[in-house]
Amino acid sequence: MKLALIGLGTVNRGLLELLLEKKDILQKEYNFNPLVTAISDPVVGSVFSEKGLNIEEILALLQKDNNIKDYPDGVKGWDSEKTIKEANADTIVEATPTNLKTGEPGLSLIRTALNNKKNVVTTNKGPIVLAYRELKDIASKNDVGFRFEGTVLSGTPVINLAESTFKGIEIKEVRGIMNGTANYILTKMEIGLSYEEALKKARKKGIAEEQPEADIKGWDSAAKIVIVANVLMGGDLKIKDVSVKGIDTVTEKDIIKALKDHKHWKLIASVKKTESGIIASVAPEILSDQDPLSKITGSINAINFTTDTLGNIMVSGPGAGKRETGYALLSDLLYINKTRCI
Ligand code: HSE
Repeated sequence: MKLALIGLGTVNRGLLELLLEKKDILQKEYNFNPLVTAISDPVVGSVFSEKGLNIEEILALLQKDNNIKDYPDGVKGWDSEKTIKEANADTIVEATPTNLKTGEPGLSLIRTALNNKKNVVTTNKGPIVLAYRELKDIASKNDVGFRFEGTVLSGTPVINLAESTFKGIEIKEVRGIMNGTANYILTKMEIGLSYEEALKKARKKGIAEEQPEADIKGWDSAAKIVIVANVLMGGDLKIKDVSVKGIDTVTEKDIIKALKDHKHWKLIASVKKTESGIIASVAPEILSDQDPLSKITGSINAINFTTDTLGNIMVSGPGAGKRETGYALLSDLLYINKTRCI
């Protein structure tokens, strides 16, 4: 597999570190020997080398001055579109910033890549929320892989898990804690931190979005539940179809009162199949301590699938982070590598 990385922020750096760290095991156990031949980022620079880039050298340059312009080899300065179209990569790793309103720039870049018969892996929620079906159709028409595990709980498996192991099982309902920042704030408020102090700490940990309103007001969770509904439950929802309420409606007093009754406030994203269609919502709820989701604390996320065959299946794990989201891309690359080899 020859990879072109579009965007070289935290997520793709996480992927590069994992490719280096796990080189031997990827080769031995999975016969996976990827070559990164191109990187394009509007801030840190772009480089293309037909024979492959030296990942150690790229990471060292980034460490030194957050720039790859001094990479000693290759063609410099290609923008993302040219890189996708003209580099010799067969697989595009798209990790540009999420925009839930327009999906751009990721949406156009993914379209270009799929139309040029390149596999695509992405962690970008915007394009999947806005255009999952269209993109999937282009991928099928062109017989290329299209994976986006990292758009839900970063590397904690949700999409790949359900698609590859819930065979013949119907998912009737999903409830989850899908935003680490909101859960972290609610957890810290239980031990006496103010909302402002807790948000400050969440930003310091690097889990909050650049505009934390998306975390606090529930839009990030809404995007994730739309993806789950459309990809795993046959839905065709838009964000505007989700009823959304954030944690800004919960006061410190509410949290302390619930705790006294052994209850916990959680921001719950849910989607359910009903007779009148698929209904999704995001809202803070008070959970009793019998509810397994009440035990999910800090920045950890969790998702509970209610199925027709196995009852409830719950997965919990990190929902953000450099290594964790980088791993989502790696798991998608392995998925495509395996399906293309079989
Ligand atoms: N801001 C998100 C969160 C990160 O707090 O969960 C990943 O989507």
